[in-house]
Amino acid sequence: MVDKFIGDGVMGVFGVPSAHEDDPERAVRCALAVLEAVEELQLPARIGVNTGEVVVVADRHYTEGVVGDVVNTAARLEGVAPVGGVLVGEATWRATRALFEYEPLIPVVVQGKADPVPVWRAASARGRLGVTVDRAPATPFLGRDGELRRLQEHYQRALAERSVQLVTVGGEPGVGKSRLVREFRAFVDARPELVNWRQGHCLPYGEGISFWALGEVLKAQAGVLEFDDPASVAAKLADTVAGTVEAPTERQWLETRLAPLLGLAGDPQARTGTPEQAESFTAWRRFLETVAARRPLMVVVEDLHWADGALLSFLHHLAEEAAGVPLLVVATARPELFDRDPGWGRRPAGRSVTIALEPLSDADTAGLIAALLGRAVGRDQAHATLLGRIGGNPLYAEQVCRMLDDRGLLEGDGGTLRLVAADTVLPDSLQALIAARLDTLAPELRALLQDAAVVGTVFWPGALLAVGGRDPERTRADLDELAQRAFIRAARGSSVAGEAEYAFWHNLTREVAYGQLPRAARIARHRAVAAWIERVAGDRAMTLDVARADAHYRRSLALVPAGDPDRARVLEKAAEAAQQAGRAVQAERLLDEAIEGFQARGDHLGAGDAMARQARVRWYRGETAQARRLIADAIALLEREPPGPELADACLEMGKEVWTSGRPQEALDWLRRAMTLAERIGADDIRQRALQIRGCARDEIGDLGGLDDVRESVELGLRLGLGRGTALAYGNLGAELFELEGPAAGIRAMEAGLELCRRRGINEVAHWLSVSVVECLSDLGRWDDALALADQLLARHRDLDQAYEGVSLTARKAHILACRGAVAEAVALKDRFLPRGRDIGDPQVTSNILPIAAFIEQAGGSLDAALALVEELERATRDGPACYRADPLPMVARICRAADRPELAERFLAGADAPAARYRHCLATAHAVLAETEGDLEVALGHYTAAATGWEEFGVVLEQGQALLGAGRCAARLEAAGSARAPLGREVLGRARAILDRLGATTLVAETDRQLAESAS
Ligand SMILES: Nc1ncnc2c1ncn2[C@@H]1O[C@H](COP(=O)(O)OP(=O)(O)OP(=O)(O)O)[C@@H](O)[C@H]1O
Ligand SMILES: [Mg+2]
Repeated sequence: MVDKFIGDGVMGVFGVPSAHEDDPERAVRCALAVLEAVEELQLPARIGVNTGEVVVVADRHYTEGVVGDVVNTAARLEGVAPVGGVLVGEATWRATRALFEYEPLIPVVVQGKADPVPVWRAASARGRLGVTVDRAPATPFLGRDGELRRLQEHYQRALAERSVQLVTVGGEPGVGKSRLVREFRAFVDARPELVNWRQGHCLPYGEGISFWALGEVLKAQAGVLEFDDPASVAAKLADTVAGTVEAPTERQWLETRLAPLLGLAGDPQARTGTPEQAESFTAWRRFLETVAARRPLMVVVEDLHWADGALLSFLHHLAEEAAGVPLLVVATARPELFDRDPGWGRRPAGRSVTIALEPLSDADTAGLIAALLGRAVGRDQAHATLLGRIGGNPLYAEQVCRMLDDRGLLEGDGGTLRLVAADTVLPDSLQALIAARLDTLAPELRALLQDAAVVGTVFWPGALLAVGGRDPERTRADLDELAQRAFIRAARGSSVAGEAEYAFWHNLTREVAYGQLPRAARIARHRAVAAWIERVAGDRAMTLDVARADAHYRRSLALVPAGDPDRARVLEKAAEAAQQAGRAVQAERLLDEAIEGFQARGDHLGAGDAMARQARVRWYRGETAQARRLIADAIALLEREPPGPELADACLEMGKEVWTSGRPQEALDWLRRAMTLAERIGADDIRQRALQIRGCARDEIGDLGGLDDVRESVELGLRLGLGRGTALAYGNLGAELFELEGPAAGIRAMEAGLELCRRRGINEVAHWLSVSVVECLSDLGRWDDALALADQLLARHRDLDQAYEGVSLTARKAHILACRGAVAEAVALKDRFLPRGRDIGDPQVTSNILPIAAFIEQAGGSLDAALALVEELERATRDGPACYRADPLPMVARICRAADRPELAERFLAGADAPAARYRHCLATAHAVLAETEGDLEVALGHYTAAATGWEEFGVVLEQGQALLGAGRCAARLEAAGSARAPLGREVLGRARAILDRLGATTLVAETDRQLAESAS
């Protein structure tokens, strides 16, 4: 309601007299609509929107008004809003941030408020239509009243019956399917009820991504933008799911299943027809149902004739199974769809219909021509011929009128136009007509349009320049001309920062232009475009829009036949895209083929490089042995050629592999070789990565100067402007500090790395850093945060695809759960991480997971199994670096004490002398436990006390609590035996209890309580 006019100001109130949950959304939509309207009138205006509780007063004139702090602030926001802008306060922003594009501004000072108020500027509503660009039609809408009414009836039914309706609009290209849907949307928009309209389109190539259209629908729902980086895509998905679904377990499941649709990990296509896919279908349907339950949902899928079987079966599933919610699915399709799937549109009976669009009548076509030409046209023979050729196809009408105009084939004749010799120039098919129009273009313009056709229905000048051979100025001018001649049109905003955005006027123009390109030219262009997409954000590589780069690489892959000399290179690129998209299995397959291709052609450099990549993929997947074999083979191949960056890179990879397998000394040799080569060829980036690994390896042989290497690597990375390399260096710095100074220092470095990753969208490294953050958090005693983050990360890597990280994460989580008494759950997790971890075999993994597995066995009452694992760990770390032996010592010693096996702990202590502070505390703890096991309580008390202080300073809360528990236990026993110097036992136990209780470490709290009870008696 409009509350009042104040001078030239207007105040509107939403949610009075009755409030709706979407009042903030209504207010912001209204504000944007008002601005757009006054902009057309060229009036300056500004708007402030605020949300909160107000007092509604009825004054003596019996009109209502609202007052309160919220109103004052709203007025103030309006006062400081930029002209032509909508400024919103925090509550409004929170309630609507998924729905609108917001730009944070500098907080404003408001009278009567101590702190500046944070404000956001609403830029635009987020694409409720997915990524397709919308445009106002150029012609009046003619002759489809019946069809439009049928759509409206299904809409009413969906709402009234809360049922699912599937309407397929079928017809020839250009007959008006999309237009009909557009007019239907105008009807929906004009309805009083709020409805969610989500639209996606199928890509015009079969081997594209099966569920692309569904991905667009989800993107629109979640407010995901083109070129959003994966981290924000994931965050938006989480927000959307959280805002839609109540139950946390359900949320987790949905997020995991929805993520692949947004290009975040996993490929739903790879598993067509499997139970796996059935589960995804269920999840996607459940999500759409939940959305529809809150507000009627329209799902529009354009160009269904291009969809593959997988998407069709999902839509069938949706229409058959969804129930009890208002959901209308509208699909548009050319006749091919019905050729391919004759049963389409008949099921489910009664809820699925097909609206077949017939040609327009001659009368409507004549009306359309007149509207297009802006004047009546004389009804002569030429006009009749024209009508015949148009055959009721409005797109043909549009195109032909443009052509007649272009070619000067119209003559003014008083108030009417007359066609001149039209029959000579009328091609008989729509495609031929469009081709004829393209022929009228100058060769450069036509070439530009063809390149644009490769990019997509929507395209950017940058992508066209990337194809090559063009001058930016000239390109802009050419695009203007193409827009003026109505082949393309400029979009209002752009989805790519700093780039103008254009779209084809009609799909079919794009198809015809694309079809004119020879195949070889298409391949080259798809690759150039994919490379441009990679470059758009520099270092972000493909992560900036994996799905899009991916689509181009897949497309070029489909075009390059087996045996083509170029195929291996394309495969390598496609593999990289797949890997970044989280489809490790597919990446592996593509690389195998690439390696084979390079080898077949005797291209050692290509093969070696691809093998080094393959080694990395395998390593992350936890297949360390294969990775090592591959890298060795790669080096052997590369050594046959003059040394270059490929060899330097492979040596570096080998250095890393050897280091992670627990042989730091040998790693140093490889790294030296990599660095010498890198220096010789001036490859600073390779040097930068080698330095950080060298630092870590030096540290492991007890040379603490390694830290300087890692620091230098960070600095070098920053200086060189490297993204990935610098982020990795931060991670390694964090790992070093984690050992030397404690988890707080570690987390600070990781966070610096994460910040860099966020800024540059380096998703894959961000994931690794986050895994380390989980470790720091659990050390710091922030267990709830650690668990939440671990779950979030694990959800992204189901099936432990990235086993190397997944194994450690799962173990961390299981450890916390076991400490908190959830033993059964911990045991189930252990059964998953233990075998995978053993396969990996690297000491940094085994020394992490074996003690946790042993601890879980002990907690589950299987002391023998726990001991067997300790023995296994002892053997595994016997000949390796000391740190891997020192790290698990506290847990090992405690298990040995429980089993009364001091000699096993003793054996473990040999070779565990690592210099870093962390390990000194580990050793102190182990000595304490061992002394206690051997009954030397006095000595034990001393070590426990030192360990407790050490861990406290270092910042590992659980160990501090356990050391205090040990100290208290020893002190209390000494007191009971009458040999204590001072009665400290109960006080120390009390301190231990407080710490353990804060962690929620229930089993240890219970043990502390037993000790306290014992000491009281
Ligand atoms: N009933 C109509 N009245 C006036 N103009 C129309 C009508 N139907 C379609 N048009 C115009 O004709 C052109 C082609 O229509 P549209 O894009 O809807 O075709 P389509 O059937 O979706 O084609 P395609 O199969 O290629 O997607 C558009 O410019 C549209 O505005
Ligand atoms: Mg269409």
